[in-house]
Amino acid sequence: MHIAALKERAEGEKRVSITPETVKKFIALGASVAVEKGAGENASISDADYIDAGATVLSAAKVAADADIVLGVQAPDPKTLKGAKEGAWVVATFDPFGAPDRVKAYAKEGLEALSMEFMPRITRAQSMDVLSSQSNLSGYKSVVAAADEYGRAFPMMMTAAGTISAAKCFVMGVGVAGLQAIATAKRLGAQVSATDVRSATKEQIESLGAKAVFVESVEGIEGEGSGGYATEMSEEYQKAQAELVSSHIAKQDIVITTALIPGRAAPRLISDAQIATMKPGSVIFDLAVSQGGNVEGSKPDAVIEKHGVKIMGYSNTPSHLAADASALFARNLYNFLSAFWDTDAGKPILDEEIGDAIRLTQGGKIVNERLTS
Ligand code: NAI
Repeated sequence: MHIAALKERAEGEKRVSITPETVKKFIALGASVAVEKGAGENASISDADYIDAGATVLSAAKVAADADIVLGVQAPDPKTLKGAKEGAWVVATFDPFGAPDRVKAYAKEGLEALSMEFMPRITRAQSMDVLSSQSNLSGYKSVVAAADEYGRAFPMMMTAAGTISAAKCFVMGVGVAGLQAIATAKRLGAQVSATDVRSATKEQIESLGAKAVFVESVEGIEGEGSGGYATEMSEEYQKAQAELVSSHIAKQDIVITTALIPGRAAPRLISDAQIATMKPGSVIFDLAVSQGGNVEGSKPDAVIEKHGVKIMGYSNTPSHLAADASALFARNLYNFLSAFWDTDAGKPILDEEIGDAIRLTQGGKIVNERLTS
């Protein structure tokens, strides 16, 4: 079983899908590993580190040769995988809804695309879930980046020259990223509040010592759809939420938005009129900026100033923590492949539940139910 890991080609992508740690682990399973030259350099991993771990380091033209499995963070253009075995697996994130042409190209090349974003949210797959591992780091980074733009301190400080009051931080959307954002803002000393449409998050917010701010006026709200994800809310709810946010947001110094609905554009949570009520010098970090944005006027990789408020967001937040993000991403891929490793066959054999969920293409066709139905 031969595994190849590529250097990322997407603009601004600094992560890498394999680390010396996972190279050693794949070799211990009986695989051989090739890594593209320079693949880890943006994540502080040198070619020598990969060689020491037992990998072969090869040029872009040679790295995929004879590969049974190709690893990536963002799926490469399948044309660059010449030499990979017929029907080779490519394990990466594919953005299947956002990049349908790439999925078609994988089918055409006869490769088997395994999309890590489609990993089912079941207990046994938690250690394989790249969305969770990367969102957790994104939640942390959003607070640290906002703190850096904020012209004041987060904690309350009592000094000989007088007292500085604690920053007020509001987190909108309390999934994996939001929970880490709350924890990080608390550690930095902010007064933290948070909201979500899923009522189950109320207890989670309170257990982190933050204040839960919820729409109580609209009856029958649950907001949780399949797989623990949010559903799109009714117009009545959206109106009540906007009113609640308007009264709360005017008192906040830092706002972190993380709200996503799978397969749809991110919900708009903050309008320009609401930004105008905030204090000058406040900072909003829009973690959903590359999926359409939760905040009116937010732009990827820019700090926009509106009504004296700074609005920011990154197109690829985990890439700003490339070393840690790569370490966790690479472990997710190893946890996935090793969980299905059949020692007699010397290769991974997927079960139906996970295989059917993540397989996009096979035998020259698009086979995933979420893309074909
Ligand atoms: P996500 O990234 O899809 O969305 C972020 C948050 O935004 C969610 O909490 C969502 O409810 C919220 N949201 C959506 N629309 C909103 C709106 N209009 N206003 C306010 N908030 C809004 O969510 P993520 O981080 O993927 O987590 C979703 C759930 O899945 C969580 O319950 C999490 O604990 C669970 N999960 C389960 C896993 C497993 O069992 N393997 C792995 C990872 C997450």
